[in-house]
Amino acid sequence: MSETKPSLPLSGQRAIVTGASSGIGEQIAKSLAAAGAAVVVNYSRDEKNAARVVGEIESARGRAVAVRADVSKESEVLAMFDRARAELGSIDILVNNAGLQKDAAFVDLSLADWDKVIGVNLTGQFLASREAAREFLRRGRTPRARSLGKILCISSVHDIIPWAGHANYAASKGGVALLMKTMAQELAQHGIRVNAISPGAIKTPINTSAWDTPTAEKELLKLIPYGRVGEPVDIGRAAVWLASDDSDYVTGATLYVDGGMTLFPEFRFGG
Ligand code: BGC
Repeated sequence: MSETKPSLPLSGQRAIVTGASSGIGEQIAKSLAAAGAAVVVNYSRDEKNAARVVGEIESARGRAVAVRADVSKESEVLAMFDRARAELGSIDILVNNAGLQKDAAFVDLSLADWDKVIGVNLTGQFLASREAAREFLRRGRTPRARSLGKILCISSVHDIIPWAGHANYAASKGGVALLMKTMAQELAQHGIRVNAISPGAIKTPINTSAWDTPTAEKELLKLIPYGRVGEPVDIGRAAVWLASDDSDYVTGATLYVDGGMTLFPEFRFGG
């Protein structure tokens, strides 16, 4: 007898994607929606683009709602989860994507830019993950997924590659790496899976200057053995897999989606 399966891997599930009004977050929201999830498109300032993303998901027959919250502020994260519960009933998937760069030479790095980047990129992941775990535990099991809930942390290759001129950013992503693993270790007993995706260079607004001229792209490709700069959909596909039952035995893992950027590319030419 064949098992009755939902037609899409995330049918009936509900997701929050933080920082979903542009870049990687926008694509993850679209990919999860295309896989059957109803999606909260979180944004902090860019209401217009969040509305555009919601509109594009709806045009593709998906379900989405835009919710404003600065993930570095506890009260705003709590309000976002209240709103998600009111709109969608509960949450099955959290994607901690919101992140930013405030680059400076180390000796010039201001405390304000240190605090801002750690606040959004690391404290934001803590706050949203804590609320997600609380919500999963409150809601209990559903027939829609094998796990109680899934948390996906969007990190970076700079969780292991030091990055001159970006100490705040690299420190935030290094922090995400052990936050993710510690949450995974602690929450597995409840049936909650926690994983990370660490993207390499992906064509988004955060790094336009690194790829938008032929000269810049040629320089960047020296760091990417696979020979192309990544696209947001490379991350969207990985996110769907890590959010679905197809990866049900995977927890505490970091998936590097980077065309080989973490493979010490300079050793192709020496050593
Ligand atoms: C950064 C990008 C950078 C990439 C590879 C990402 O985490 O946000 O600006 O291009 O890492 O270095």
